[in-house]
Formats: sequence, structure tokens, C-alpha cells
Amino acid sequence: MGRDEDPGQGDTPAMSGLHPRIRQAGVQDRAGAHHRPGMKPYYDDGQITIYHGDCREILPSLEPVDLVVTSPPYGSIRDYIDGSEFEWKGCLDSMVACLEPGGVIMWNVDNQTINGSETGDAFRQVLYMMDEGGLRLHDTMIYLRQGVTFPDANRYLPGFEYMFILSKGAPSTFQGLKDRPNISAGARIHGSVTETDGTKREHSRNGKTIEPFGLRFNYWSISSSAPDVGHPAVMPYKMAAAHIATWSLENMTILDPFMGSGTTLRAAKDLGRRAIGIEIEERYCEIAVKRLAQEVLPLAFT
Ligand SMILES: C[S@@+](CC[C@H](N)C(=O)[O-])C[C@H]1O[C@@H](n2cnc3c(N)ncnc32)[C@H](O)[C@@H]1O
Repeated sequence: MGRDEDPGQGDTPAMSGLHPRIRQAGVQDRAGAHHRPGMKPYYDDGQITIYHGDCREILPSLEPVDLVVTSPPYGSIRDYIDGSEFEWKGCLDSMVACLEPGGVIMWNVDNQTINGSETGDAFRQVLYMMDEGGLRLHDTMIYLRQGVTFPDANRYLPGFEYMFILSKGAPSTFQGLKDRPNISAGARIHGSVTETDGTKREHSRNGKTIEPFGLRFNYWSISSSAPDVGHPAVMPYKMAAAHIATWSLENMTILDPFMGSGTTLRAAKDLGRRAIGIEIEERYCEIAVKRLAQEVLPLAFT
């Protein structure tokens, strides 16, 4: 992955201030920042805040956020926390409660395969957020991985992951990315629309010129090669950046309760959003702080 795709490694931690979305009910430290007892950020530069801890314990103390862009642990595929299984229901309850009305969750997951069968946990989690959390399933988006993994003897090469888009009511923000080259660019639109009773009427856009670029499809082809930052499952920077650009506006607050190496936070910073990350493993918090300290580079979504 090139530098334009992954801004984010350096070494200047900044520890000051309190994120505006942290409930102001705490104590004042020597730097003048307010913290809830036991809720002192690992890192806070006024725009980006990181908490080192279990998201189930931290999330209930946060003010609601506008957007969650996250990739949770996939079952026990990777043993992040001393080999223990990912207890997802508790995490989802707290994450859904932390979402503003109109807010969106981008849930990037895959199903683990155990004893030759997919677990289906990705679907269970989404249905749980709908049935128990009252969220809408706004879109089922697909991340086409440009990269090959070793195949099983009896199935096709796995080539995609889910990017479920869930929302609390209708999404408050949608800034659809229009970077799909139109093969008929420059031509004039002509055609008709068939009504439900079978009658035809002229298309309302007839006569207009087709633009060079149109709205993206809901499947995104992104390179799966990740920078070697010291985390086993880094989200592609372009995935995080494109979702943040789509579902939020400047100065809105983005949350990643499973922050890992901080890809979501790095992209949020580059896009002028506020962000909060929570990570249970301290060594990954350290990596995220280093990535945040790197110089801001031009954005690239494709
Ligand atoms: C798939 S990784 C996220 C990778 C991240 N998107 C990135 O780009 O680096 C999931 C992360 O969730 C963390 N995690 C697991 N359970 C957690 C919990 N209860 N609270 C906070 N973090 C947790 C793991 O340590 C791991 O780093």
C-alpha cells in the first residue's frame, strides 16, 4: 500500500484536553482536562481521543456519536485477548446505545469457517442490532478484496467481506462518491420509464448530458494489502476514508470501538472529523498514536 493510501506512522504522542463528546462529570487533572474517574484517555489532541480498555466499559460514558466505522474481531480467528472469544452482544448493546438518531454504523465483518462450515456470526450480529437495537439495515455493501488467500479444497477462493450499513432511523448524511467512470459520458440521456400499470413515460432526465463520473456501486474493490504497522488485521485506509466521507460531515464525531492500529482515526483526522477510538490491547494504542502523528497526506479513495 502506498503512502497516499496509508498516512499514519510517526512518534509524537500528544496528551491534552478532553474530547467534547466525553460527558463532563469527572475530575480535573494537572493539565486542566476533565476526566471521569477511571476514564483518562490514553491520547487526546482535542480532535482525536483514544481510550485503552474494553469498549463495553468505556462506551457507556461517551456522548452519542454520528458514525461508527469499525471492524470487530472475527470470532476467535485472531486471538487478540489472551485467546478468549469475542463477546459481541455486550459490545453491540453499548455501541448501538452510543449512536445519535440518524447515525450510521459501518460494520466490516466476515464469517469465520469452523469445522468446514461458516459460523454465520456476521449475520447474527446484524440481525441482533436490528431486532434488539432497533437499527435499520440500510445497505449490505461488499468489499471485494484485491488479493488472494489460500483456498480450501472444496470451495471457491474467498474474495469478499461484508460492509453492513446500519442506521438509527434514516441516515442523516449521505454524500455519495461519484468516481465511477461512465462509459457513455458526453452522450445525451434518452429513454423511458415503465409504470406499474405497464404504461411508459419519458425519463425525466431525457436530453441531459451524461456526466464523466457516476455514483459508485455498493461493492467496492479495494486492495487488501495492508501496511506493516504491527497489527494482524489492518482495515484498508481507503475503506475507512470513503465511508467517513460518505456518512459524515466535517466536525462530526466518528467512533471505532475496536480501534486496532487506528485506521479509522487516521482517516477521520485527514477528513477533518473528530474521532474516538477504543482498544483493549495497549500495544495497538501505541501504534495508533504513532500513525496519528504522521504528517497529513492528500486523500485518495480509489
Ligand atoms: C479487526 S481488529 C481492528 C483493526 C483496525 N480496524 C485496524 O485498522 O487496525 C479488532 C480489534 O478489536 C480489539 N478488541 C477486541 N475486543 C475488544 C473490546 N472488548 N474492546 C476494545 N477493543 C477490543 C482487538 O484487540 C483488535 O485490535
